[in-house]
Amino acid sequence: MAANTISITVKIWRQSDPNSTGSFENHRLEDINTDMSFLEMLDVLNERLTLSGGEPVAFDHDCREGICGMCGAVVNGIAHGPERETTLCQLHMRHFRNGETIAIEPFRARAFPPIKDLIIDRSSFDHIITAGGYVSMNTGSAQDGNTIPVAQDKAEQAMDAAACIGCGACVAACPNAAAMLFVGAKVSQFALLPQGEPERKKRALAMVEAMDKAGFGNCGNERECENVCPKGISIRNIARLNREYIRAAFTAD
Ligand code: FES
Repeated sequence: MAANTISITVKIWRQSDPNSTGSFENHRLEDINTDMSFLEMLDVLNERLTLSGGEPVAFDHDCREGICGMCGAVVNGIAHGPERETTLCQLHMRHFRNGETIAIEPFRARAFPPIKDLIIDRSSFDHIITAGGYVSMNTGSAQDGNTIPVAQDKAEQAMDAAACIGCGACVAACPNAAAMLFVGAKVSQFALLPQGEPERKKRALAMVEAMDKAGFGNCGNERECENVCPKGISIRNIARLNREYIRAAFTAD
């Protein structure tokens, strides 16, 4: 075995369709280069499965740069794996030991129904965004970039909230399968800026309503969401969501 390779066993969730039961399957992988990303390791597994006439493991991915939020799985019990503020596609095999058994399963939540293997249906997040994740703008001539003053601290907080990539790890890690870190980030990024003011109340009410309708639970202050978030989104955004919701519920027209 070369110095920069490890041999591992992956214990991976297989489920052929939304209605089948699913179970773990074990595969031994020799000579995995530790410079590979986790998804590249899955590519190797799939290549071997395909060459041996097996069915490749279905998993979501797109950018593989930690930007799009498509990837995600629970690795050894932790959403996106053992490295903090790291998406699954940015996790590298050097963080695993030679001889280790790695358990890989999909994000599990009632609002994220399974599709196949590691792929889940996260369209509930899309429904929440559709409910209020937008701002109204006057159309016509382009506006000068600096005509709307924004305080530096507010801009920083809004940008931090806007870093959410909507991967769903917060939901998978929460004992209540709550989506409040996600919704808190999406409400905050607009509530903190003057551009978000016109729909501010309507947005908080509509996004929380869509969240409840999708079947997500409520925040129990466990902070598991914050711990697994690959973008370091703070639970302060959940506190802001609660404030925005209460303010809107009492003062909405
Ligand atoms: S594939 Fe885009 S964030 Fe991982």
